[in-house]
Amino acid sequence: MKVFKEKKIVIGVTGSIAAYKVVGLASQLTQAGALVDVILTESAAKLVSPLTFSAVTGRRAAVDQDLWQVDDHVLHIKLGEENQAFLIAPATANTIAKLAHGIADNLLTVSALASRTDLLVAPAMDGGMYSHPATQENLSILEDRGVTILGPAAGHLASGLSGKGRMLESEQLLGHLRIWLGREGVLAGKKVVITAGGTQEPIDPVRVISNRSSGKQGYALAQAALDQGAEVVLISGPVCLDSPVGANLIETTTVDQMSAAVLKETENTDLLIMAAAVADYKPSQESNRKIKKEKGGLPAINLAVTPDILSEIAQRKESSGVGPLVTIGFAAETEDLLTNAKSKLEKKKLDLIAANDISRKDSGFGADKNQVTLIWKDGRTEELPLMEKSEVSDIIIQESAKLLETI
Ligand code: CTP
Repeated sequence: MKVFKEKKIVIGVTGSIAAYKVVGLASQLTQAGALVDVILTESAAKLVSPLTFSAVTGRRAAVDQDLWQVDDHVLHIKLGEENQAFLIAPATANTIAKLAHGIADNLLTVSALASRTDLLVAPAMDGGMYSHPATQENLSILEDRGVTILGPAAGHLASGLSGKGRMLESEQLLGHLRIWLGREGVLAGKKVVITAGGTQEPIDPVRVISNRSSGKQGYALAQAALDQGAEVVLISGPVCLDSPVGANLIETTTVDQMSAAVLKETENTDLLIMAAAVADYKPSQESNRKIKKEKGGLPAINLAVTPDILSEIAQRKESSGVGPLVTIGFAAETEDLLTNAKSKLEKKKLDLIAANDISRKDSGFGADKNQVTLIWKDGRTEELPLMEKSEVSDIIIQESAKLLETI
């Protein structure tokens, strides 16, 4: 998560029991290299000790008394001005009301008023308080002023009731912070379509033909594109991964479903990255009953060729001009890596292909790392070392942005 490295993030914590969850968030951000300054309101400090936050951030958490310290006489200005993100989580109805009306009667609200960056606010309160017209109006005032309201989610509330008012989970808040920090990245304003995972071709209601793709590379690409400000559509085969916060996830199972989704989503898109491991063959007929063990003899599965999605994209672009401005593919190879990848680059009319040797145990399918060679259509090649899939993704996204610039 190098997106957080050396980023100054202020977290304002107010008096909701969800405050304890923010300790985890502050810790995760700190571990990712962020410089996290926490400001607690008086009520927040009754729920979670400032010392708890100081312990996880390595920086002194601030409380109201700090506003009047001689050495920190401009603390609120410092906290308000010197940050790249200012998140208030959990934000109670009371603090939301104060923010909406410019009331600055404690260190948090005075710092929020002094903040040069727009605020991110994650409400947390009981359902009735959240739906109260006063709170709704206050939230609208803040939104109109450029504040980003994160959540709340529906579910179990501290009152024992169920409804809308739960603060978003810290993973969600972390994802929103990433989007916020990346909003002016190299792909800001660009639409990016990314495919991920393997497809499944049904044999009968129980069995499928699939492959070992985990989807990790495609999901990492989606996160890397979000980190650079892109609007991301993630078209995924069945995988066991959480969609990155902010990605528009389209779940597919078969090649035909994935193909339809890719063709539709790329009618008007800047960039397509096909990281999915798409089945080349499917059973020519899907049995609608479970195939039973035959007495004597083995059942035969007849196969049919599936559409090649990248070739379809290229054909449509050639015939009607409709399609992504830049197209990037992957080549999964066990031999003749460069020759095979170059031939796919040409055949599928790609701008760039990432060739990976999937015979290596430490790289490619299922692994957390990947070793790829990038090959551009102008003949340039670059062999990257074995690295985390997130790092490979950051490089591919930077190269995509350069390709888009040349168009
Ligand atoms: N691909 C595709 N449609 C298919 C198969 C593959 O769009 N039906 C895309 C993949 O997403 C990848 C690229 O084509 O970006 C290369 O996929 P790969 O599986 O390496 O190659 P294939 O074209 O399937 O050829 P082969 O299996 O013979 O290596």
